[in-house]
Amino acid sequence: MGYALVTGASGGIGKEFAKILAAHGKDLILVARSDDRLREIASELHRDHGVHVVRFAMDLTEEDAADQLFTTTQDAGYFVDTLINNAGFGDLTGFLDSNWHRSRSLMQLNMVTLAHLTYLYGNEMRRHHFGRILNVSSVAAAFAGPNMALYYASKAFVLSFTEALSAELRGTGVTATAICPGPTATAFGANARMSATGRNFMTMMRPMPASAVAARGYRAMMTGRTTVYVGPLTKAGFAAARILPRCVTRAICKYANGTPEGPKF
Ligand SMILES: NC(=O)c1ccc[n+]([C@@H]2O[C@H](COP(=O)([O-])OP(=O)(O)OC[C@H]3O[C@@H](n4cnc5c(N)ncnc54)[C@H](OP(=O)(O)O)[C@@H]3O)[C@@H](O)[C@H]2O)c1
Repeated sequence: MGYALVTGASGGIGKEFAKILAAHGKDLILVARSDDRLREIASELHRDHGVHVVRFAMDLTEEDAADQLFTTTQDAGYFVDTLINNAGFGDLTGFLDSNWHRSRSLMQLNMVTLAHLTYLYGNEMRRHHFGRILNVSSVAAAFAGPNMALYYASKAFVLSFTEALSAELRGTGVTATAICPGPTATAFGANARMSATGRNFMTMMRPMPASAVAARGYRAMMTGRTTVYVGPLTKAGFAAARILPRCVTRAICKYANGTPEGPKF
């Protein structure tokens, strides 16, 4: 049996994916920047489930990150038959007020590294006639999101890319699934610099537990579904996006995203 590689496994939804996979006896490759947290999770999962856990502490916004990770895992002889592209972040800021370096990193992590890892490991999977790819999108994929413009656009990229890939892969033994969660109780809001108390999607709606979101994604990936919309709010969001004019959903998202604190130079 091959390995499952999970990006962003040091917390939030990614950590829950790792726990579910380990509980199913899957050996793991965990990737994130925080090595201390990865080490803790790795030893906990090895202790509780007896699985082999390899960890890579690395910054996936680096341009050569996907190449480096792929080469290292190939050289070590790990066949990755399950790839979960989960690492990602948002940034509550007007686009012109954003810190360009952070915006570029967002695009690199949420889109470029995700696509690059899919390309590298996807080719290996196709060669073996077996593999599963799960890409983490968002309810944000359904809308344009003022004050989080790049984040929403990046998640629309993930959804569109994964849907198309899923169709391309039919008959190869490899599947691609996009999961679209709604607000989920993780460090996402804080990392996106959304207020913990002011008005925004994270405070206006009751976030789902990360464990429930990961469980839905895992099931969808294992059954080879192309898309999974998690939770009633997300389903309602995608339904509304099909019915309402874009100018209306844009205005709703602008209101609900909340107000950025100002320039982030
Ligand atoms: N929470 C929500 O409401 C929500 C809703 C819809 C979709 N999502 C999506 O779900 C995914 C997981 O987010 P989350 O909610 O679990 O947020 P989170 O708690 O902030 O977790 C993000 C994970 O990504 C890792 N990461 C961030 N930057 C990285 C980098 N440069 N290199 C490597 N790893 C990096 C983080 O680890 P380190 O900091 O250790 O690197 C962490 O493990 C994201 O793609 C997010 O867009 C979240």
